[in-house]
Amino acid sequence: MNENSLLRLFPAPHEERALEGLYLDDPIAHPGSDDTPFVYTNFVSSLDGRIALENPRTGRRSAPPAITNPRDWRLFQELAARADALIVSAAFVRGLAEGSSHEKLPLGRDPAFSDLHDWRKQRGMPPQPAMVILSRTLDVSVAERCRSLRRPVYFAVGNDVSQDDAGAVEATGARILIAGKGRHVEGRALINGLGREGFRRIYSIAGPRVLHTLLQDGVLHRLYLTHYHRLLGGTSFDTLLEGDPLDPPPSLVPRSLYFDAGVAGSAGQVFAAYDIA
Ligand SMILES: NC(=O)c1ccc[n+]([C@@H]2O[C@H](COP(=O)([O-])OP(=O)(O)OC[C@H]3O[C@@H](n4cnc5c(N)ncnc54)[C@H](OP(=O)(O)O)[C@@H]3O)[C@@H](O)[C@H]2O)c1
Repeated sequence: MNENSLLRLFPAPHEERALEGLYLDDPIAHPGSDDTPFVYTNFVSSLDGRIALENPRTGRRSAPPAITNPRDWRLFQELAARADALIVSAAFVRGLAEGSSHEKLPLGRDPAFSDLHDWRKQRGMPPQPAMVILSRTLDVSVAERCRSLRRPVYFAVGNDVSQDDAGAVEATGARILIAGKGRHVEGRALINGLGREGFRRIYSIAGPRVLHTLLQDGVLHRLYLTHYHRLLGGTSFDTLLEGDPLDPPPSLVPRSLYFDAGVAGSAGQVFAAYDIA
């Protein structure tokens, strides 16, 4: 097997294929209907389930460098190329302000992703997906930081927000989507609201609480999950999902599984995709 290619383990038969294009080619829509929003998310995790570890120097949690890697990053960018809108957390945008996550906002400007920009252009899509920020508050400083992003920006909040803050956020050019009663955003109201805005492919790049918000209301359709073949340990970490127990717990139907041996000096990773039953 070519060391840069992937081996498909599921569905049978086993087959080699290139990394590039793997998620560009994947149908991201409801079968037979392109009119209803399709919601998907993506995570990279260690085998002991860590998606973020605390940095002892800053005290902040972030995706561990021991598991993030350019090949998974390529697929993350491909999923973003497919999207009309990205869901992020306000915490993520606060990180952008300090410059720590600026390059994390897809689509990246790295020349390695120029084919993805072309892909969107050829399909008449805007250069960048819109950004939808979930928060319990209308944080005007977060909205200010988004002025330079050159893409439509939405704040999704519950209805318990200050009208003064709403005016200040809208003055930055951001739009406000009320998607819940009280302080929290509710998954169904969020996706219905984004559907009314015309968004059809909605990609959440947020973390465990947003995932819970989407699953709790049954509005997530697909999980793309990379397992990097390492164990990390640690006592201060994030895992995939955080919130009250889900009742009933959703079942995830395997869709595809690829083994990737191509990360230099590592034991590789697997790229899995699951449809939410
Ligand atoms: N390895 C990976 O693939 C991966 C992927 C994603 C994230 N991560 C990591 O996971 C950690 C957490 O990421 P995150 O902050 O994006 O995660 P998150 O837990 O999904 O989001 C937390 C923040 O989002 C807002 N929020 C979430 N659900 C909400 C709701 N229903 N209503 C209103 N606001 C809501 C809140 O903002 P306010 O506090 O402003 O109210 C909350 O503080 C970070 O270290 C990140 O780097 C890793």
